[in-house]
Parts: sequence; C-alpha cells; structure tokens
Amino acid sequence: MSAATEFRAAFGTEPEGVWTAPGRINLIGEHTDYNDGFALPIALPHALTVSAARRPDARVRLRSREFPDVFEARLADLSPGTVPGWAAYQAGALWALVDEGHRIGGLDLLVESGIPTGTGLSTSAAVCCATVLAATGLYGSEPPPAEVARLAQRAENDFVGMPCGIMDQSAVMLADEGRALFLDCRSLETEQVPFDPAAHGLSLLVVDTRAPRRLVEGAYGERRRSCEEAARILGVRALRDVSVGGLPRALAALPDPVVRRRVRHVVTENARVLETAALFRAGRPRAAGPLFTASHVSLRDDFEVSVPEVDTAVSAALSAGALGARITGGGFGGCVIALVESGAVVDCGKAVRVAFAERGHTEPVVFTALPSAGARRLS
Ligand code: GLA
Repeated sequence: MSAATEFRAAFGTEPEGVWTAPGRINLIGEHTDYNDGFALPIALPHALTVSAARRPDARVRLRSREFPDVFEARLADLSPGTVPGWAAYQAGALWALVDEGHRIGGLDLLVESGIPTGTGLSTSAAVCCATVLAATGLYGSEPPPAEVARLAQRAENDFVGMPCGIMDQSAVMLADEGRALFLDCRSLETEQVPFDPAAHGLSLLVVDTRAPRRLVEGAYGERRRSCEEAARILGVRALRDVSVGGLPRALAALPDPVVRRRVRHVVTENARVLETAALFRAGRPRAAGPLFTASHVSLRDDFEVSVPEVDTAVSAALSAGALGARITGGGFGGCVIALVESGAVVDCGKAVRVAFAERGHTEPVVFTALPSAGARRLS
C-alpha cells in the first residue's frame, strides 16, 4: 500500500506531505559523542517515512504501521513521562518544538518504517528527525538540518529520557551519498569525507546479530556517568580533552580500574576516528580495516558493551578474510559491520551464519550497505 493510501485508511484524509529519514551506521567513533569527541557515521539506504496533515483542532494523532495502537492527545498536554511506548519519540519531537516556541498546530502523523527495529540502527533518531521536519514543514518554520538534529536529540534526552549524544541525529540529518560524515561533537562542525566502498572494490557488510538488546538504557547512562566523573577528576571539560600522549598520566590519576578502562576506550577511539577520516580523505579506505577491529577490541574489553553474539560475528568475519570488523552503535546487542573485499562478501556472510548456527545463536540477518542520503521531504 502506498503511504497516501495507508494514511487515508488510518485517518480518513489526504496527507499533505511525506518525509523520509534513514537509519544510520556508525563506521567508527563509538561512545565518543557525549564526550565531546569525534564520530564517523553514514546514513543507510533503509529509511522510514512520516506522512502528515495539519488538523484544525490543536490535537495530535499518531499512528505507526508497525504497532496497532493509536496515540491521541492535545498538543498542549504533551509533557515528559506521560507518553508510553513508541509514540513517545514523535510526541517528544512535537513537545520540543512547542517548548522552544515553534508555532505548530494539530497534526495527523503516520510512520512507516523500513529500518529493522530494535537493531541499534537508530530508528528512534530517524522518527524524531522526520517528525520535526514534517511538523515544521507544514507549519512553515523548517529549521536548518543541524538544528533539526538538536531538537530530535532533545526529544530523546528530555522527553523519552534516553541520555544519548548527537551522533545518530546528525547522521540522519546531514549524511550524504558516497560519503561518511566526520562529526566534531564539540564544535558540531562536520565534513563530508569520501567513502565509496564499491569504487575501491570493497563492501560494507552489516550483520544484524538479532541478539536481544539487554540493559541498554541503564548501562548506557552508567557508561556516560563514568566518563563525566572521570573528566571531573581529571579537571577537563570532557574526555575529548585528554590526548593519547596524555593518557598514561590521566590513567595514573584515576583510582577506579573500571573508570580507567572507560577513559582508555574514549581517548583511543577518538584517535582512531581521526586516523580513519585521514585515510578516507587520502582515498585509502582499505587501510581502515585494522582500526575497525581495534575499535571493537576496545569496546569489548575496555568499554564492555559487547555480547557473545556480537563477538561471534566479529571473529567469524575476520576469520573469513574481512579487513576489519566491529560492533556499531550503543552496544549490548545490535549490529556488527565488516569492511570486506567485494569478492569475499558471500564467504564472509556464510562464515558468520555458520558460526551462529554452531553456537546456537538465532540466525543473523546479513546485508551490505552503501552510504546514503540524509532526511528530506519526498512529496
Ligand atoms: C547510541 C547513542 C549515540 C551514541 C552511540 C554510541 O547510538 O544514541 O548518541 O552515543 O550510542 O556511540
């Protein structure tokens, strides 16, 4: 069914516009965004759409093709903690707009997602960004893309209660085809860095491990607090301000061994992002493979956000000849990416599937992804 037909079936009216927003994969730079550091995400070809129409009565009605329940409320009644489940993301995006003085009114919104949910590919950031775009697009006050990203992050931070950084939303709004988005999470400066794996005979393999994502929000918040506590002890604004050269001294000043490991991950990961971006600029993406793998080891051993299914996928991909492989996203399940010679994609995927079967893990979903365009209006 087309978006317009679904919308008519859901609300009995015509949509006035359709917006799309992609999922994202972070190539490298994990758990660095909330430390004022660097990240290098791409947008996926997988995207969701939000179809929207204005209503004259200042009410919002939210529907999703994926979930049967409908959420309905007065725009003015939306407040943090009052909206349960999937609708909280859209409600949060609308709340952030109203809270910051954007003149929006009643809306009917329908989400249809082509992003595999619950896999750490940032459906939540995509839905928040597309909702901000739809509401502001229809009420005539569309902010610049980086501002849409900030409003979408605010929806998650202050309405949903997820203390995420700005990486996902920036990728969703600012990523471009054939490029990776180099993001400085302190200055919010961005650079489109060439990343066209196919042109180099490479493929980016994505393994959705389908591992149940455990403890995600609590453990994420706990990691974030450890980093902030470390920055406080070290007397820096954020861990971004600790260099690789200054790491031994910083570690010596931290009494807690767990906090020391967290800091070592963030500091070395920032350096790996800078190196990867430099290799991409120099047209040498193949050489980034070992940096991907080093990132994984650091996330597994120092930041402790991996799970057995993820480690199985990384090891199997590497054994089958991947140039590098790592967990991507917040962790505790979700997806693995592997940089692979295009000729080795089939073998690599097979090796991962076989390893999962041997260990009795749920069968993973394996696909390749090209860097794709960010969020925009479709019609
Ligand atoms: C999640 C968060 C992001 C980022 C990553 C880890 O995706 O939403 O802000 O912190 O985890 O890099």
